Amino acid sequence: MTEKFDAVDIIRTKRDREVLSEHQIAWVIDAYTRGVVAEEQMSALAMAIFLNGMNPDEISQWTQAMINSGEVMDFSSLTKPTTDKHSTGGVGDKITLPLAPLVASYGVAVPQLSGRGLGHTGGTLDKLEAIPGWRANLSNDEILAQLESVGAVICAAGSGLAPADKKLYALRDITSTVESIPLIASSIMSKKIAEGTDSLILDVKVGSGAFMKNLEQARQLATTMVEIGKQAGTHTVALLTDMSVPLGRKIGNALEVEESVEVLAGGGPADVVELTVALAREMLLAAGVDVDPTENLENGLAMDSWKAMIRAQDGDPDAPLPTAKHTETVVAESDGVISGLDALKLGYASWKLGAGRARKEDPVQAGAGVTIHAHLGEPVKAGQALLTLHTDDEPRVERAKESLEGAITISTMASTRDSVLLDRIS
Ligand code: URA
Repeated sequence: MTEKFDAVDIIRTKRDREVLSEHQIAWVIDAYTRGVVAEEQMSALAMAIFLNGMNPDEISQWTQAMINSGEVMDFSSLTKPTTDKHSTGGVGDKITLPLAPLVASYGVAVPQLSGRGLGHTGGTLDKLEAIPGWRANLSNDEILAQLESVGAVICAAGSGLAPADKKLYALRDITSTVESIPLIASSIMSKKIAEGTDSLILDVKVGSGAFMKNLEQARQLATTMVEIGKQAGTHTVALLTDMSVPLGRKIGNALEVEESVEVLAGGGPADVVELTVALAREMLLAAGVDVDPTENLENGLAMDSWKAMIRAQDGDPDAPLPTAKHTETVVAESDGVISGLDALKLGYASWKLGAGRARKEDPVQAGAGVTIHAHLGEPVKAGQALLTLHTDDEPRVERAKESLEGAITISTMASTRDSVLLDRIS
């Protein structure tokens, strides 16, 4: 087949800060997926985009081309509206677990196609796999049936959604071209739009434990993603939320399931409850349901929906969760108030204890992670327990402790955080 364009011309166009045409973009993504554009050519193009950016039209066209590279899910046969949430990832971010069943308890369907963790941020599927029997892989027919009966599905995203992004993301990872707003926004949105949801709420994290370290960058990423969503006809809203300290008091797979169940039982840490309720409110409003979602956390309906969701995927919601073989406590060295609790360092520690993986094929430990006993703004006395480290593998404790160097600051001045919500972009 004669190709319509030449990759070298397209690379040169972006290298020289010119605008790519819709046809050039459609061709380069398709030809890359087919293997006609070589990895080294796409590497050069990704770096040219990283350095010179793309305008809003190019970003939308790039996203659409990645959507067109694979299948698009179709939920139009459902009797309920669909809504979904995407988080850009953070430490202790277990919000999907209580959120999906909470929203489903109001009769709105939540198709949450998720991934596994890589590096210091945990993966939703790894967390749920801590529940005995729970199954991540569902067929499209099973997803549809569960959305109709239970309302919430959290499962593995099939390989058919935006295959161009899968290839490109792996390439960006090894060519230092991940941290580019046009490339991140189009990568996330292509998968979410291909998922076929009616509306999408984005949780864009800001702070040490997130991709975006400051509010300005996060605002730009959020605005770019909201624009892409709108152009594709998906109602999209973004909340900017704090990720300078971990969310909640538990980091790790089974530990985060445990904390999610506390929230579903009407308790749990204030920040986890605040964010779950804020995201649920946005998702429900987008689906035309105007309620206060705290009600179904308090009256047990969200918990019923959670148990039904876990059982539908062969999990036992009442079975005891796995615990780690070894625990060790980290204590305060002085009296004072916790004024810093670095999300990134705690995320690394949990990862090194065995909760996360360094390579895609590594196994994770269900019970590994960190419990936080003293959170931001809380008073402590010297010798008091600050953290418990959990692992099946005792030698990992020393490596985790190295990551914790400087993670916790104790001072005489109280430092608190009134809300995790920083901004809203629609
Ligand atoms: N998550 C994605 O799916 N893609 C990116 O580029 C960054 C984070």
